[in-house]
Amino acid sequence: MKNGIVILDFGSQYNQLIARRIREFGVYSEILPFNSDIEEITKLMPKGIILSGGPSSVNASDANLITKEIYELGIPIFGICYGMQLTVHLLGGKVAKGNIGEYGKSTFFKDKNVRLLKDVPKSSTVWMSHFDEVEILPNGFEEIGHTSTCIAGIANEEKKIYATQFHPEVAHTEFGTQIIKNFVFDICKCEKTWNLSDYIETSIKEIKETVGNKKVILGLSGGVDSSVAAMLIHKAIGNQLTCIFVDLGLMRKNEAKNVMQTYGEHYNMNIIHVDASKEFLSALKDVSDPETKRKIIGHKFIDVFNREAIKLKDVSFLAQGTIYPDVIESKSAKGGPSVTIKSHHNVGGLPEEMNLKLLEPLKELFKDEVRNLGLQLGIPRKMIMRHPFPGPGLGIRILGAVDEEKVKILQEADDIFIQELYKNNLYDKVSQAFVVLLPVKSVGVMGDERTYEYTAVIRSANTTDFMTATWSRLPYDFLDLVSTRIINEVKGINRVVYDISSKPPATIEWE
Ligand code: XMP
Repeated sequence: MKNGIVILDFGSQYNQLIARRIREFGVYSEILPFNSDIEEITKLMPKGIILSGGPSSVNASDANLITKEIYELGIPIFGICYGMQLTVHLLGGKVAKGNIGEYGKSTFFKDKNVRLLKDVPKSSTVWMSHFDEVEILPNGFEEIGHTSTCIAGIANEEKKIYATQFHPEVAHTEFGTQIIKNFVFDICKCEKTWNLSDYIETSIKEIKETVGNKKVILGLSGGVDSSVAAMLIHKAIGNQLTCIFVDLGLMRKNEAKNVMQTYGEHYNMNIIHVDASKEFLSALKDVSDPETKRKIIGHKFIDVFNREAIKLKDVSFLAQGTIYPDVIESKSAKGGPSVTIKSHHNVGGLPEEMNLKLLEPLKELFKDEVRNLGLQLGIPRKMIMRHPFPGPGLGIRILGAVDEEKVKILQEADDIFIQELYKNNLYDKVSQAFVVLLPVKSVGVMGDERTYEYTAVIRSANTTDFMTATWSRLPYDFLDLVSTRIINEVKGINRVVYDISSKPPATIEWE
């Protein structure tokens, strides 16, 4: 790491934003749990440390505290929100419950022109989210700014310790990026040494060294992460890599063909195409409970993957498209305070007798970095910019029991919706879009005939993190076009409805 910034995670939901902002400046940044050993932190030789926000109060009996030693390392420190209160608390000042909390936008008045606030005007909008506030500053600190309710910034310039009560990493803080830049470049003196082309080269070298002449397997799903991992590893070791593509029979229309054509034929990768659709459909026969369906699909997937993997002889490594947010989530699940959101693992434990080592070349990258890497490796933009697709596939978009006929109906309807989104330049404007098939039949009339067919739901969501989402405001004319095409062209559907629920309280998928 050497030239980078360490962020200690006290549980703020914005931590990944801080790391991404810093990486966007060309500086490497890594998030560690707040309770990491001091040796673990210093081993990385960071140029600066950021103490993140977090949900607890420094005065609580079970507060997330750290050792004061961190302020004596001579490494510049920037405390954000909880990180500011922690700094004050540990260094001998006082934090107490404020009279009123401050949530959302607030006006920050700059009182001192310290390095952290270079090029920040006398007053600006900032994003706040706190109840506790600083009452007495520790020795050696001065107030550098305030809002109408609290001390909003402090500094000890000599020791290079700074803190703000507001969140500079959130887009609503007008000069937030400038403030983080000031910390990273003016105070920590970081250099811009982080870029993706170097990453590709270093990574290829590392993969070659690690793997030597051994064999590697990878579960290719066609999604962005596993595809980029496959391309990178393929570039490093060519045909020593074998990909296993398990077709659950629950994929989008032509998905299996596209994956095989793109990666197998075009890039000449070694791919085993396992058509397990019959097996999956028979395991799902007459099962309508959503969680049971998910479990059946998950277990079956592992069975099929393992069966194929065991057939390959002399394999030493299992490659996975694990990316940095997955790592952070599983780390915080182990000890950090952030709430664990969701962990979707497509490949579960492989049989122990295979004794495979893990190869995870993307585990330091954020999603947008993985996408950029994919583009630099030559994967077509259309493949890279695709919306996410859930592991259990159409199995959780056909409500109730799944059968082959319903899968075909849904594939056709979904394909029309997606085609039209592309044609009307709307695909990139929404985060995830798909069709859901309801087991609800209703009466319609086509020509002079009475119909009694299924209902399809058009679902389109806009989100940045997939934890909260709003429904996409797609134009009425567009919805009309999609509905007309689906009803006219897809046998089995005579009614189309549009899902206008946000998440929460609804979720993006229907099951
Ligand atoms: P929900 O429905 O929870 O979905 O709002 C949030 C995001 O997660 C995706 N999703 C999954 N992805 N395996 C996956 O790989 C799963 O089991 C799974 N379930 C939901 C969903 O498509 C959305 O992007």
